[in-house]
Amino acid sequence: MPGPFRLTSDPDDIAIAADLLRAGKLVAFPTETVYGLGARADDDAAVRRIYEAKGRPATNPSIVHVASLEAASRVAHLDAMARDLASAFWPGPLTLVAKRITGAVCDATTSGGETVAIRVPAHRVARALLEAVGLPIAAPSANRSTHVSPTTAEHVAGSLGDRVDAILDGGAAVHGIESTIVRAIEGEPLAVLRLGAVPLAAIAAFASPRLVLDASSRIDSADVAAPAPGGQARHYAPRGRLVVVSRVELAGAVRAARASGGRVGVIAVSARSGLATDELVLGGEAAAYTASLYAALHELEGRGCDAIVVERVPDGDVWSAVRDRLRRASVPERA
Ligand code: TXA
Ligand code: MG
Repeated sequence: MPGPFRLTSDPDDIAIAADLLRAGKLVAFPTETVYGLGARADDDAAVRRIYEAKGRPATNPSIVHVASLEAASRVAHLDAMARDLASAFWPGPLTLVAKRITGAVCDATTSGGETVAIRVPAHRVARALLEAVGLPIAAPSANRSTHVSPTTAEHVAGSLGDRVDAILDGGAAVHGIESTIVRAIEGEPLAVLRLGAVPLAAIAAFASPRLVLDASSRIDSADVAAPAPGGQARHYAPRGRLVVVSRVELAGAVRAARASGGRVGVIAVSARSGLATDELVLGGEAAAYTASLYAALHELEGRGCDAIVVERVPDGDVWSAVRDRLRRASVPERA
């Protein structure tokens, strides 16, 4: 079992990764949010291989990654508001959805839609790779569809194995949660389609006085047409069951999970509960907690936990992306 080809973030290895991408291969690479599974966005066969590798429905479009605002302008029609947002947050963890420029990327990348999601990542290795390739790169998160996104190269290898041609290792992702997705189309109100690494308040403050619609609350619900097609209910989920409860409910929830059999893990906020051997404490500081949440889910899953009991995180905007992901991760499998 050879497994995927492992590359370091040395310039020579980045050059190899760029050659592989140009040749239509799948390369997982680090970004500041989570690892992406990349393929050239103008190559239908290459992008279709991403969907096969992830087990992702072809109807769920991928984010296009480019090295600069100028490169983004060759893929999407960015209006004044989109350009202002791009200047404020790029390079960085903001994805803009805008009208696509015909012919710039293939139909598999956008799932045949009229719009395209695009971002300029800030990660040094991602930027070097994109500059070396010189082509727009389609890259969803580098995990099997609906599972927890990878924040390390090991997570990618564990989730996708040799379904990916190479993995570029750039260390642990700093944000540890996906980009914030904002739909910015001329003549339409600005809409947040997915909460993420850029806090909602930063977008709202910036976009004022133009209205920001928080569409992310709608994409939680399975019975409403999802503005972000990937916003289906169960997502970001470990293999076992996951429940979110308040601190005082922890003991009862752990007991209930044990009663239905198997190994139970606990993720606490500020202090150990002592209720399980497999307990991880992520801390009460939002950025640090967020950066370690997916790694904690991977860790407990790797230890064989059949159920994970998560202590509810505090209220407030800085926690909203974490609350969103925990809510989706706790949706039962057969929903
Ligand atoms: O941080 C991130 O955004 C990571 C890194 C690798 O860049 N990527 C990522 O990709 O999270 P993915 O595919 O796991 O999530 C992208 C989301 C999906 O929910 C998809 O439906 C939505 O973006 N999306 C893509 N194109 C879209 C479009 N044209 N309109 C609306 N939503 C779109
Ligand atoms: Mg994903």
